[in-house]
Amino acid sequence: MDLKSRIPGFYDKTIEERQIIIKDLLNLSEDDIKTLEGKKISEKTLNIMIENVIGQIPLPIGIATNFTVNKKDYLIPMVTEESSVIAAASNAAKIARTKGGFRAEYSGSNVIGQLQILSNEDFTLIKEKLLNHKDELLEIANSTNEILVKLGGGAKDIEVRSVKGKLQNYHLLHLIVDTLDAMGANAINTMLEAISPKVNEISNGNVLLKIISNYAIKRKVSVEAVFDKEGLGGEKVVDNILLAYDLADNDIYRAVTHNKGIMNGITSVMLATGNDTRAIEAGAHAYAVRDGSYRSLTRYEKTQEGNLRGVLEIPMSVGILGGAINVHPSYKLSLKILNVSTAEELAKVAGAVGLAQNVAALRALVSEGIQEGHMLLHARNVAVSAGATGEEIEKIAEIMISEKTINYDSAKKALNSELKKK
Ligand code: MEV
Repeated sequence: MDLKSRIPGFYDKTIEERQIIIKDLLNLSEDDIKTLEGKKISEKTLNIMIENVIGQIPLPIGIATNFTVNKKDYLIPMVTEESSVIAAASNAAKIARTKGGFRAEYSGSNVIGQLQILSNEDFTLIKEKLLNHKDELLEIANSTNEILVKLGGGAKDIEVRSVKGKLQNYHLLHLIVDTLDAMGANAINTMLEAISPKVNEISNGNVLLKIISNYAIKRKVSVEAVFDKEGLGGEKVVDNILLAYDLADNDIYRAVTHNKGIMNGITSVMLATGNDTRAIEAGAHAYAVRDGSYRSLTRYEKTQEGNLRGVLEIPMSVGILGGAINVHPSYKLSLKILNVSTAEELAKVAGAVGLAQNVAALRALVSEGIQEGHMLLHARNVAVSAGATGEEIEKIAEIMISEKTINYDSAKKALNSELKKK
């Protein structure tokens, strides 16, 4: 039977109950549950991952529910320190679900690597010479990664550009590599280093930088969904979301916060799956400014029925193998929970989370404001820090919210008076 991502009441369960639900739904092993509970990463693995290790830092991992992407249901692991993010994404996904969920397209997994060529020769001449040697350059690049080539990936094309710098002009060779299911930085950087002696020879120049470009415009995802107006709170909410979007599309101060909200969702999925969050963030923000003005990464319109149609188009250079993903047990487990078999599938799901996150934030901002949801979680955290356990947590949080004073002293006072009643 196909997995169903709609799990009513998941939010109200204990962590252990949620683990049991996920375990049963996804056939996880006891060992997987131990990994979820924070089985320590071994010293050996830690030392492989980074330098000067002194320990490890645990973060919560949660599951976003209700997601359907291209007619397949997903339970989405997200790692974040920010409250409300997972609840908000799940809520927007529930609203989209009644209209068929998310539809996503992928541009393919081509990644760009750059060679910065220093040369006094004329650009047109260098361009012509490099393009004439295209097959030879691709062959050298591909000789460094037989496995990738065997699987159908590898270096596919070259492009030559020129850029005016302050100090001098630069010729740039872009190597276009299909990295398939890997993020691909290592593969492409190795290829760039391999072809640079030949490029020096052809261009009669000197290659300086040899490095991947994180402006992954040949590896984009486009996600679209319709959000039911009643689920959002009525047609007035849809109209107000359009006004909020209009501001984000025309004002950098608002656009940065708007796009940060999108990345709340995407980065959480990337953290859970061991992807390079900084590369994805950098690519996303650069894409937001592609026409010269920094704008909203999402687009919205009202459908004829008065519902909200949203689209998110974003570079999404993600992998499901290679790098840290292969060594860290939690990353492998996240991918198992996600049940994705390709980087393309992961990119589409992450895009859907980004769109859902944005709709949820806009809905809250034009309705009750975002503090209401934040405050309950904040109050719960304060209640726990004051020593509340079990059912006391909710009770103390509610007392503080109704008295509009959420701090440690109020929590302690409320807890003491609750304990006296017992
Ligand atoms: C908070 O982390 C994210 C929001 O500020 C996003 C937004 O304003 O759209 C709520």
